[in-house]
Amino acid sequence: MVLTRRAVRFARFLKHCTVKTSTVNDLCKWEKCIFNLDKRAFSTTRCVRLYDNAFSRSTQQPDEYWAEAAEQITWHKKWTKVLDDSNSPFTKWFVDGELNICYNAVDRHVESGHGERTAIIHDSPVTKSIQKITFKELKREVEKFAGVLRKYGVEKGDRVLIYMPMIPEAVVAMLACARLGAIHSLVFGGFASKELATRIHHSEAKVVVSANCGVEPSRVVPYKPMLDEAINLSEFKPQKCIIYNRPGFEAAAMTPGMDVSWQEEMTVDYSVDCVPVSAMDPLYLLYTSGTTGLPKAVVRPTGGYAVNLKWSMYSVYGMNPGDVWWAASDLGWVVGHSYIAYAPLLNNNTTIIFEGKPVGTPDAGTFFRLLQEHGVNGMFTAPTALRAIRAEDPEGKLLRQYLPLENFRTLFVAGEHMDPETMMWIQEIIKKPILDNWWQTETGSPITSTCVGLGMQLYPPSGVAGKPVPGWNVKVLREDGSETEPEELGQIAVKLPLPPGSFSTLWMADQRFRETYFTKIPGYYDTMDAGFRDENGYIAVMARSDDVINVAGHRISAGALEEAILECEDVVESAVIGVPDSLKGQIPVGICIIRQGLEKAGEDVIRDVIQAVREKIGPVAAFKKAVIVPKLPKTRSGKVARNTMAAMAANKPYKIPATIEDASVYPQIKAALQTIGYATGD
Ligand code: COA
Ligand code: AMP
Repeated sequence: MVLTRRAVRFARFLKHCTVKTSTVNDLCKWEKCIFNLDKRAFSTTRCVRLYDNAFSRSTQQPDEYWAEAAEQITWHKKWTKVLDDSNSPFTKWFVDGELNICYNAVDRHVESGHGERTAIIHDSPVTKSIQKITFKELKREVEKFAGVLRKYGVEKGDRVLIYMPMIPEAVVAMLACARLGAIHSLVFGGFASKELATRIHHSEAKVVVSANCGVEPSRVVPYKPMLDEAINLSEFKPQKCIIYNRPGFEAAAMTPGMDVSWQEEMTVDYSVDCVPVSAMDPLYLLYTSGTTGLPKAVVRPTGGYAVNLKWSMYSVYGMNPGDVWWAASDLGWVVGHSYIAYAPLLNNNTTIIFEGKPVGTPDAGTFFRLLQEHGVNGMFTAPTALRAIRAEDPEGKLLRQYLPLENFRTLFVAGEHMDPETMMWIQEIIKKPILDNWWQTETGSPITSTCVGLGMQLYPPSGVAGKPVPGWNVKVLREDGSETEPEELGQIAVKLPLPPGSFSTLWMADQRFRETYFTKIPGYYDTMDAGFRDENGYIAVMARSDDVINVAGHRISAGALEEAILECEDVVESAVIGVPDSLKGQIPVGICIIRQGLEKAGEDVIRDVIQAVREKIGPVAAFKKAVIVPKLPKTRSGKVARNTMAAMAANKPYKIPATIEDASVYPQIKAALQTIGYATGD
């Protein structure tokens, strides 16, 4: 059987994967499927040139390139200089420019006659409701809520913490902050009180906006008691909490003097104008995981972000104004900020807020019901979600009842590595391009992708996350700083300056910003991801090179989990490693050393450790497994060699570093991991 070039590339990719090796028949089936799908996939030379030209202009004449993109934004005051890189890495874009992103996302669409267009569809299978909100209605809600925030003292530059479930009021709160020039900080609902307290304290949030509860498929999550506990724990106290009571659920217990009701406050007909802010003024803080458990908040500059997001909706995602777009993520993550809230609204698209899960709400057909029912044109999801659907509905029976998807053009995936088998499976069923793109909280938009609006071909080689998006001068480097050969694994870095919209610093931590991301490879942004480039310039992202674990597309810090474990007094030392998981990509496993002479049974210690992490970090960490060992492998400088234990657990080859003090600990760790089903290889 003769394999085509594409299949050979796919086979070559499989060498780099930990997934099951496919057979030659599978490869040929894959080939047949993608070639039969869409003849338009094979783009014309003109289209290829469009991307190539855009990329080279964005890196060689960045001022000119981004100035053109910035024409798509309404500026209160035009910039005097597009790019000021005199104090790298503190790059400034659109110097002296002033704008309001809420005006650009909402008001201007109403002013240009699109007030009756649907801005938001809230589809909530967990509450069995669907709500549609026009741009005109959204404007009214945002104006009013901005008035409420102002009443409680919120002005430009103040921080407002938003801790809300996936309801339109969360977007209203974000936009109202932006309208006033206040800085919002959203916290994902799956985090526990302690994480919430850390963020209230670190951002010194003047006002908190929250709700009585979130709704998970199996339980109602009471947000308000968690907020109360967080405020108790935080040394810094907010001045006011505005609480939205979700109809149909028990109302929150209100603390007199501190809490006010969203619904009661919104009875007043405020009207607040948009406050112009400088292009480099922060729009939001977004906390993310690093190597340690120390709070780390990415600062997003307003002007460059507005320009990049508006530009990307067409150039990267191929969405035209009026199209319906759905990013199936949570507002608490960067994808939610950028592609549920700001980007689609800036581009005059209808955006879907989905309050449900890929499976179980009510079944694995849900995503496809939404695509059909709302006439979605483009969608974003995480590979985990597709794996969950496939596990529940391997034949795709539930999905197929919603096919063909007439309006639907492309499915984008990101957040973690996309395994080729799941990609093949879904592509074969829906017969639309599945496009992987790679990005990070820090970047705010994709670093690599198939840029649909720039005419890139819609069926790239499997296993890659597209090519560098214009503005992202991506290099794959060896340890000595030289560039790798095609297909050679290396550290992925981005040559400075970073494009508009990427983070401008870390909140209250300029020095940490410089040291964490820009010192190791001078002149570059260290992405902390490893991967390779193929001979055609496509980038494959394989793994983090730091101690961050990617659980269902959520970034969890090993350091933060270890700190939470150590709060159990029975444990004196611990290391957390990421192990492969067929559903969530990776899950964390704790390796613990217990206090000498402890008489408690091992399983009781482990149960307490798991409970401690759930209480301190939250259920989102999916921390459900831990083992007890006598000793951890440490280098002479005291660093725990987590990567060797992770490789051992995953049955991957590993080399014990020469600097390890006592290599005899490995057999004991192996035996312990085997008791929970890992490290079963030779
Ligand atoms: N508020 C409160 N709790 C939340 C929550 C929220 N917003 N989101 C998740 N949780 C809880 C869940 O209830 C669960 O708790 P449990 O341990 O008591 O069951 C825990 O956090 C883990 O949640 P989740 O990751 O959703 O796991 P799950 O087993 O319930 O569902 C999937 C599995 C595959 C359906 C789910 O992981 C999923 O939808 N993944 C896609 C992820 C995604 O979209 N990522 C995009 C990142 S950009
Ligand atoms: P976050 O900052 O939470 O969005 O997580 C970013 C991390 O997720 C990246 O550094 C990668 O490790 C991982 N990631 C995101 N997208 C992809 C992708 N398409 N392929 C592989 N890994 C990805």
